[in-house]
Amino acid sequence: MIKIYIVDKSNKKLCDHDLIYYVIADNNSRKMREKAIKTYKKIVSADLSKSIHIYNQIKENNLYSIFVETFLLLNYKFDKYKSKKQPLFKISYQNPKLINTSLIEGVCIARDLVNEPLSFLTAQQLAKEIKKYSKNSFFKVETLNEKKIRDLAMGGVLSVNKGSVNPSNFNILTYKHAKSKSTKPIVLVGKGVMYDTGGLSLKPTANSMDMMKSDMAGAAAVIGAIYAIAKMKLNVHIVALIPAVENRPGGDAYVPGDVITMMNGSTVEVLNTDAEGRMILADALHYAKRLKPSLVIDLATLTGSAARAVGKYGIVAMGNASYEIIKLLEESGLQVDEKIAVQPFWDEYRLELESDMADLKNIGSAEAGHITAGKFLEHFTKEKGQSAYPWVHLDIAGVAFLQKPYFISPKGGTGAGVRLLCQFIKNYSSNV
Ligand code: BES
Ligand code: ZN
Ligand code: ZN
Repeated sequence: MIKIYIVDKSNKKLCDHDLIYYVIADNNSRKMREKAIKTYKKIVSADLSKSIHIYNQIKENNLYSIFVETFLLLNYKFDKYKSKKQPLFKISYQNPKLINTSLIEGVCIARDLVNEPLSFLTAQQLAKEIKKYSKNSFFKVETLNEKKIRDLAMGGVLSVNKGSVNPSNFNILTYKHAKSKSTKPIVLVGKGVMYDTGGLSLKPTANSMDMMKSDMAGAAAVIGAIYAIAKMKLNVHIVALIPAVENRPGGDAYVPGDVITMMNGSTVEVLNTDAEGRMILADALHYAKRLKPSLVIDLATLTGSAARAVGKYGIVAMGNASYEIIKLLEESGLQVDEKIAVQPFWDEYRLELESDMADLKNIGSAEAGHITAGKFLEHFTKEKGQSAYPWVHLDIAGVAFLQKPYFISPKGGTGAGVRLLCQFIKNYSSNV
């Protein structure tokens, strides 16, 4: 058994050895996470024993929680398809009440979903997985099949999925605390492109397509978040909307030049079939209006441009929500170390989407592609030219999937957005 003591600065004569490690608490939460990472790495390389116990010898419970939670997040591996499983540490700790295991579970669910390849995780399988997770938590799920999607005239969802042999679906996850009197939920929308080949505007095979099983990371994040929130039984009302499709070239695939009528009746000239995320999110954002939301947040691996703008260090944000909401989101991000980079959202970007043929086109110019994508989405959050609800768009393309481990995230799916959403929703609901 390896023992780790989280101690105060006042403790003297601390000497690490192979079985006992001392960690001096740091008041800064990011530094505390860094200490957990450093300790974890040390122990991995020592690899003496497979079980670890963490002791709390400090007064600041919050710092202790951060340390243990970081440790648990580091102790993750996706080895479902390995014949020979590599064991993980067995971690136990003092004061279990201080540790939010539901949140850790939510993050790991999101990571697992992102890591699953398309050969397993089609839209239909995703609906089954959501159902399975709902049984283990306290949220409900309804899955609309392709026929229902057709009845609703979700032109964006249907056209993106046309090249695929697998049917699309639209998942509605609901959690409402027993005591909640709310009639205006917070709506979370997640991009569920189970695989993005680019469609007929095919991505080059060498690099850009390899990680595109992760193009449903927005969906994974909202599933992980609603799972955790429901399991924590927060006194809130949340609905998550997940349009799930595959973007493929196929005999019937939508083509550049097509004009699509969306659920809200607007027409879109498709000039690049690889700009598919916005097509499915547009219908989901329109659908959200019938829920009379107090706030809508969408999460999507929407653009390479967002990833180029801030890299793996942050989430790109924009929208029409109030300054207070954006500020609360930024603060929540800092609390959990999922940083937000708020972008300008000027009308000039909207002008780039003007089409000769239709109400708008699905791509802008080569510049600020993440913002023109956001402007495309904004169109569908409006009703008769007015915002139908306060809305924030989070582009997680840079942070959702990593080529090598970074900070508290493993290689592959990171579960980005889950801790941010949970922290934000906690802060938001205690604020109003
Ligand atoms: N899924 C991609 C965005 C993406 C890129 C996510 C890299 C994660 C990593 C999205 O559907 C896409 O292809 N976007 C295009 C839009 C362009 C055609 C306007 C892009 O960003 O290049
Ligand atoms: Zn694409
Ligand atoms: Zn995509």
